[in-house]
Amino acid sequence: MSATTATKAPRTADSFEGIMSGVFEVQHPLIQCHLTRLRDKSTPPTEFRQLVHRLASLLAYEATKDLRWEAISVETPLAKTGGARLVDRIGLVPILRAGLGMVDPVLELIPTAEVWHLGLYRDEETATPVKYYIKLPAERPVDVALVVDPMLATGGSVTAALATLNDWGVRQVKLLSILAAEEGIKRVESEFPDSQIYVCQIDPDLDDRKYIVPGLGDAGDRIFNTVRE
Ligand code: PRP
Ligand code: URA
Repeated sequence: MSATTATKAPRTADSFEGIMSGVFEVQHPLIQCHLTRLRDKSTPPTEFRQLVHRLASLLAYEATKDLRWEAISVETPLAKTGGARLVDRIGLVPILRAGLGMVDPVLELIPTAEVWHLGLYRDEETATPVKYYIKLPAERPVDVALVVDPMLATGGSVTAALATLNDWGVRQVKLLSILAAEEGIKRVESEFPDSQIYVCQIDPDLDDRKYIVPGLGDAGDRIFNTVRE
């Protein structure tokens, strides 16, 4: 095998048995290379955060290709020409705490997005989500919610978040996760078939503590430098 050949060919969405049409495992050499550094257990928190930023930007670029826009005109210093303005009201919804690591790069791309935080953590014993902060205005939900959380493992946290956004009346939900386990993808698929999922890679397994394998460990702890040996 040549040095430029990946040891494991990245899977395309088509080859994931039973995958829904709304799942996009984004194939790009920059994603594969940054993800490899992210997985590495020796990557320090500063670099880990930078890598999360880069990967979130690349995912957001893909996930926003179908946003609605309207034609407008603009005066350059030389002439009048055609341009575009976003029509959709975009909500950026980080699932605390690890999702916070993906907020700034997406806001950089969509500065007009509203940011709504959902606080959820997994109970360490049961791996089920516990809600601790949900504050959404009762009226006027956003048109498109970009839910950001680096990890989709069992899918418990994300489905709890999507249920909350559903109740709020959000029309379209796109989940951006750096890594997902097949189990979590299937759970979202069965409970929220209209949502879209953008991931850098889908891993096959969960261990007995419901961590993604091979995964990258605890994303929140690695972002915020709270890893306990
Ligand atoms: C992690 C991760 C997801 C969740 C994924 O959060 O960021 O929110 O676990 O697991 P699931 O798909 O099985 O629900 P965690 O509970 O570790 O909280 P943290 O972000 O505060 O570290
Ligand atoms: N949460 C993480 O941070 N990592 C996993 O592998 C699973 C859940």
